[in-house]
Amino acid sequence: MSITTVATQPIAGQKPGTSGLRKKTPVFMGPHYLENFVQSIFDVVGADGKTFVLGGDGRYFNDRAAQVILRMAAANGAARVIVGQGALLSTPAASHLIRLNKTDGGIVMSASHNPGGPHEDFGVKFNMANGGPAPEGVTEAMFQRTTTIADYRILEAHDVDLSSLGRSTLGGMVVDVVDPVSDYAALMETLFDFDAIRALFAGGFRMRMDSMCAITGPYAVEILERRLGAAPGTCVNAQPLPDFGGMHPDPNPTWAKVLMDEMFGENAPDFGAASDGDGDRNMVVGRGIYVSPSDSLAILAANAHLAKGYKGGLKGVARSMPTSAAADRVADALGIEKFETPTGWKFFGNLLDAGRVTICGEESFGTGSDHVREKDGLWAILLWLNILAVRGETVAEILKGHWLKYGRNYYSRHDFEAIETAKADAMMAALRAKLSDLPGMEIEGMTISAADDFAYTDPVDGSVSLKQGVRILFGDGSRIVLRLSGTGTEGATLRLYLERYVAGPAGLDHDAQEALAPVIRAAHDLAGIAAFTGRDAPNVVT
Ligand code: G1P
Ligand code: ZN
Repeated sequence: MSITTVATQPIAGQKPGTSGLRKKTPVFMGPHYLENFVQSIFDVVGADGKTFVLGGDGRYFNDRAAQVILRMAAANGAARVIVGQGALLSTPAASHLIRLNKTDGGIVMSASHNPGGPHEDFGVKFNMANGGPAPEGVTEAMFQRTTTIADYRILEAHDVDLSSLGRSTLGGMVVDVVDPVSDYAALMETLFDFDAIRALFAGGFRMRMDSMCAITGPYAVEILERRLGAAPGTCVNAQPLPDFGGMHPDPNPTWAKVLMDEMFGENAPDFGAASDGDGDRNMVVGRGIYVSPSDSLAILAANAHLAKGYKGGLKGVARSMPTSAAADRVADALGIEKFETPTGWKFFGNLLDAGRVTICGEESFGTGSDHVREKDGLWAILLWLNILAVRGETVAEILKGHWLKYGRNYYSRHDFEAIETAKADAMMAALRAKLSDLPGMEIEGMTISAADDFAYTDPVDGSVSLKQGVRILFGDGSRIVLRLSGTGTEGATLRLYLERYVAGPAGLDHDAQEALAPVIRAAHDLAGIAAFTGRDAPNVVT
């Protein structure tokens, strides 16, 4: 076995976004592309003598990419790589393995909730020694490195057998193939009352878990069916497939429509849940009732003390800016700190590391806690199950009880995908230019009280993030937020976030879209969405 230094040329446009680098699979499979990015990672974080975790969500090219990354890690002097069997690991499980084994970080192969397959998306992200996504300074340095890279190092060697557990060596590097599920499942047992949940299932409680042919299948079958006694067949689409069976593994009412139909149909189970490609997102649904992620975060925060891992209470709660303020009301009632961060899980990392917050969440179906440094789909689903088991109420009863107590933040996100980038940029620029004129303006019977472009100063390290999204606030507590996605791979995606607060029983009366109608009209008027983008309706509504 010999180490080869391969001459390469920088490839334009390798800018990692908020969650690593995502590109169309053929781009990643193109000459030197994956290699350039992986070498840039090692050049920035250093590989010599280090230990890393490696795994991915099983999408097309996952297996080949893992072999390349292993050979490059060996050539760059890494001491040891811990790999999930079959090169599989969910994002939260990878985060846990990094922390459990005190490694120097990890590489996760995933494009999260984006479809997978030969013509779909692939991605690579680096997580730091704390288990969390690399911060902006690090991803920026990786990007800069890809623009100047002249060669990469790779070991000439046969494939490592990743199909069986155990230790082998690759050049001078140790490769440990580990079960992707067992350590993660053990962690869940420390946080939740498995006996209570087992009793719930034993009492006839029925659940549907849709893993959307992505990574959480093996985790869900082991934890829900084997350890917790959910009926066999509770978990569907539980086999990770390279093309996710053609599904779009994004757990929301649009893409998890089959689950939604079942939950709203006759003989619906008591509880439904879905997770995304790499297992960090979740959607929960009750029988005949959808739980918005913002409400889910608030309810989990309000009830977390019912699970043994959180019985001492929460240190604080953090939500991303576009997430509804429902969680803030819970934090206020609990008398704990609350934080509003820019979009992207990495902004929670410092708060978690500093012990300022225990639970965090985003409106984009992401919830998690200080047990790892990523959002965690199955964790949220298990916390819901724990709460349902202890309270003995239905999802609908818990949701309505919450709204009656705290008031309801009607909430929805409208996505306009694959808009021409120039048009989306022009729209945002025009909106930003008129923000200072908006306060005091009346529209749809509401008065604008403030408008700004969200800026965030990290309370832990003082770093500043500017231009994180336009916020338009109204006197009655309603709110409009607009920002462009940082994770799309085709054109631009405009995300329009809509919120309206109603206290008391009135908050039980309406469908969210109906309650938000005036806010939606105001948003279209103020931003001129149709005029700029040619689109008058979103293609995904959550
Ligand atoms: C989206 C979500 C965001 C999440 C990110 C990674 O980013 O909106 O909340 O952290 O995916 O899962 P966006 O495409 O909006 O930049
Ligand atoms: Zn994901």
